[in-house]
Amino acid sequence: MTHNSTILVTGASGNVGRQVVSQLLAARSGTVRALTRTPAGAGLPSQVDVRQGDLSDPVALEAAVAGADVVFLMWPFHSAEPAVVVVDTIKHHARRVVFLSSGAVQDGFLPEQQHHPVGRSHARVEQLIEQSALSWTYLRPSTFAANTLWWADQLRAGDVVHGAYGAVPMALLHEADIAAVAVRALTEDGHDRATYHLTGPEVLTQAEQVRTIGQVLGRPLQWVELSREAARRRLLADDSFPDTFVEPLLDGYADMLAAPRPTITHTVEAVTGTPARTYRAWVCDHAADFR
Ligand SMILES: NC(=O)c1ccc[n+]([C@@H]2O[C@H](COP(=O)([O-])OP(=O)(O)OC[C@H]3O[C@@H](n4cnc5c(N)ncnc54)[C@H](OP(=O)(O)O)[C@@H]3O)[C@@H](O)[C@H]2O)c1
Repeated sequence: MTHNSTILVTGASGNVGRQVVSQLLAARSGTVRALTRTPAGAGLPSQVDVRQGDLSDPVALEAAVAGADVVFLMWPFHSAEPAVVVVDTIKHHARRVVFLSSGAVQDGFLPEQQHHPVGRSHARVEQLIEQSALSWTYLRPSTFAANTLWWADQLRAGDVVHGAYGAVPMALLHEADIAAVAVRALTEDGHDRATYHLTGPEVLTQAEQVRTIGQVLGRPLQWVELSREAARRRLLADDSFPDTFVEPLLDGYADMLAAPRPTITHTVEAVTGTPARTYRAWVCDHAADFR
């Protein structure tokens, strides 16, 4: 891969995309372009070639991807509906895509056979990329540590997190580690047709995650278990949480509770040379969000 490639980062204002942008800039790996619907509010660094557009708008996407060699693709939609046009547009310009897929995708099942809706949409995008002439790498991360920012309002107001499925075990990932793997795949040879199953280095239940936040903040924080119905009502009343994602989220937790404990992978270290960060390290990086 040449050092003067142009890399288009979609989802550049999001958890992972923002890290991809800053790590690409730090690595001085070519020209960094970013797609956002709202450039003024995206807060992207001045060295970034910011392009305004919606992924579901083929004209805007075409303008953003023209002249790009490699694309970091994140999928912000709850269905795969726009994917045919998105992949078609990318393949006419770029030669390679690194797709932020999901650990919800189960190997050996067609998209329509996937159990979870997130698995269905991401598996379909993977399928379309594979059917194109693009070179590709898929990142299939486990649960993001950043999801625990959903508790920030509760923890700014008191010492308790109310939620359902507190015993669900998760191998939470720091967004910087997902981005570090993405940056390797975007800038180095040797990652073509690789599917990277990414996890953090430890398994913690939701209740243990709350205790870890408390240890970092120096407060006696507690998880208070709600029934699924009470948690559903609470999430639906939360304006910052999309209503359409409430049932898939709770279904996902129920599945994770019934499934074997997550298996830790060492893929972050294998690809980047550095072990995945702990959840405690993530909380230290985001402590101000909970205060
Ligand atoms: N959360 C998890 O535990 C988890 C686990 C595995 C996989 N994933 C996958 O990771 C992805 C989420 O990544 P993230 O947390 O980094 O994202 P995020 O923080 O939720 O940010 C969403 C990004 O999507 C962009 N966006 C939203 N709608 C858009 C549209 N119509 N066109 C163009 N851009 C749009 C937003 O950009 P602007 O507002 O600037 O346009 C923003 O940068 C999802 O595909 C999810 O399934 C998540």
